[in-house]
Amino acid sequence: MRSRNINYDIVAHLYSFITGFLYILGGGLTEKAFRRIFFTEFIKAKGNEEVLDICCANGKGTQFLASYFKQGRITGVDLNPAMISFAIKNTKKTSNVNFRVGDCTKMDFPDKYFDFVNSFLALHEIPTQLVKVVLKEIKRVLKDTGRLLVFDFKVPEKSTFDLNFMYYVLRLIEDESAARFMMIDQIKYIENQGFKLVHSKEYHNGFTRAYLFKVDKSVSSSLV
Ligand SMILES: C[S@@+](CC[C@H](N)C(=O)[O-])C[C@H]1O[C@@H](n2cnc3c(N)ncnc32)[C@H](O)[C@@H]1O
Repeated sequence: MRSRNINYDIVAHLYSFITGFLYILGGGLTEKAFRRIFFTEFIKAKGNEEVLDICCANGKGTQFLASYFKQGRITGVDLNPAMISFAIKNTKKTSNVNFRVGDCTKMDFPDKYFDFVNSFLALHEIPTQLVKVVLKEIKRVLKDTGRLLVFDFKVPEKSTFDLNFMYYVLRLIEDESAARFMMIDQIKYIENQGFKLVHSKEYHNGFTRAYLFKVDKSVSSSLV
């Protein structure tokens, strides 16, 4: 599967710079400061976890995950080889990470392998008809006791100048699938694929939201 309208072969080279700027614009915090606040809220590591970071891009988030899951092992997967090369460079001093080029709509990991899956600004990247396929794959590779952490954009409920500005900037960059994902009831959508919400919090004045889910064994994922 090819990545969407964004050309990540080019973006990979400027990714840290662009995202660094967008983090400040979106909430006044640096990327590092935001990731620290976010992971501290949502990650309670026990030790020895197998962690999967889907759509890991240049590995900045994967590196952060590694510092939270100190005794765990983190695997980052991204469709774009240039991103994976940057991820390997960016984490060369971190021992508990590994990366591979791969498509999160069809992953080659065994069933029930991971304790934790991180999906950080990933689901809005996936073409609408494949989001359920990705969630089904995540459920397949998660253990029954596993957790899924999702952080993604959503349409803000308030209408202020800066939120509207951010929304239109994003609409210029992203495609229709991203817009659709931002508009759906993300909790209900993900729960319908066999997960149960544990904890949720809004960030960036309602422009983003994070959700921690556990696997719900009573619901089987459907692709319809
Ligand atoms: C916005 S970035 C993700 C940000 C990253 N998770 C972080 O923490 O900084 C989106 C990434 O998704 C990747 N991507 C898009 N479709 C994918 C797919 N089907 N499988 C794996 N990666 C994909 C792109 O190559 C890009 O690097």
